[in-house]
Amino acid sequence: TEASPPSPKQQVAIKAAEIVDNGMIVGLGTGSTANLFIDELARRQHEQQLEIQVVASSVISRVKAQQAGLQVISIEHLSHLDMYVDGADEVTTDMQLLKGRGQDLVCEKLLASHATAFYVLVDDSKMVSRIGEKNAIPIEVMPSAAQLVLNRLAKLQAKGSLRLNAAGDNVAYSAAGNLILDMQFTDLETAQINALLTVMPGVVEHGIFADIVKAVFIGSSDGVKLLQR
Ligand code: A5P
Repeated sequence: TEASPPSPKQQVAIKAAEIVDNGMIVGLGTGSTANLFIDELARRQHEQQLEIQVVASSVISRVKAQQAGLQVISIEHLSHLDMYVDGADEVTTDMQLLKGRGQDLVCEKLLASHATAFYVLVDDSKMVSRIGEKNAIPIEVMPSAAQLVLNRLAKLQAKGSLRLNAAGDNVAYSAAGNLILDMQFTDLETAQINALLTVMPGVVEHGIFADIVKAVFIGSSDGVKLLQR
């Protein structure tokens, strides 16, 4: 029997693994597409005897990388990061991103912003004309600040609520121990929302990633397209 052709998400994972050079330190994102990249990277390392080190944005990616035989170093030991590879929840053609559907936003943005090159892997279902088109914007807040930040956001005509756990019977905690507000903005442009949230007291991190992407690999049934700076 013939092996089935790689899915769009697998195709972008393969492309991204191909640009890793021997000796690099590579940051691993979180999510189903980042997982496919971890598999491809481990396969390349094994087949070509590469000496690479990885750093993970989440516990699940660290565990997966270790199981796949990759050499994991901790963020505390990073002197530099050659590249960071992650998925996203929304992408615009000018390479603005929305991330943070998972609980690992703080670490994801930390690694993405310190990497020499940040590569994003998506399938074409993630493309939008405006950030926030399909998803609320995740805003990670200090637990004690949640209500005050909600009040301030309400004055900016933002609507939303505290994220709950999957069972809906408790708040959801981020990996960094914070609470998450999932908010929709009606009146403001992405750049304005980004600027406001980046300096708002009580906000630890938010899901808009602006101006830090080097390239986006977009998988579709027609193959892989590349957006590049
Ligand atoms: C994690 O917080 C998110 O930013 C993920 O990177 C995002 O949800 C992408 O996940 P998938 O690759 O599973 O769609």
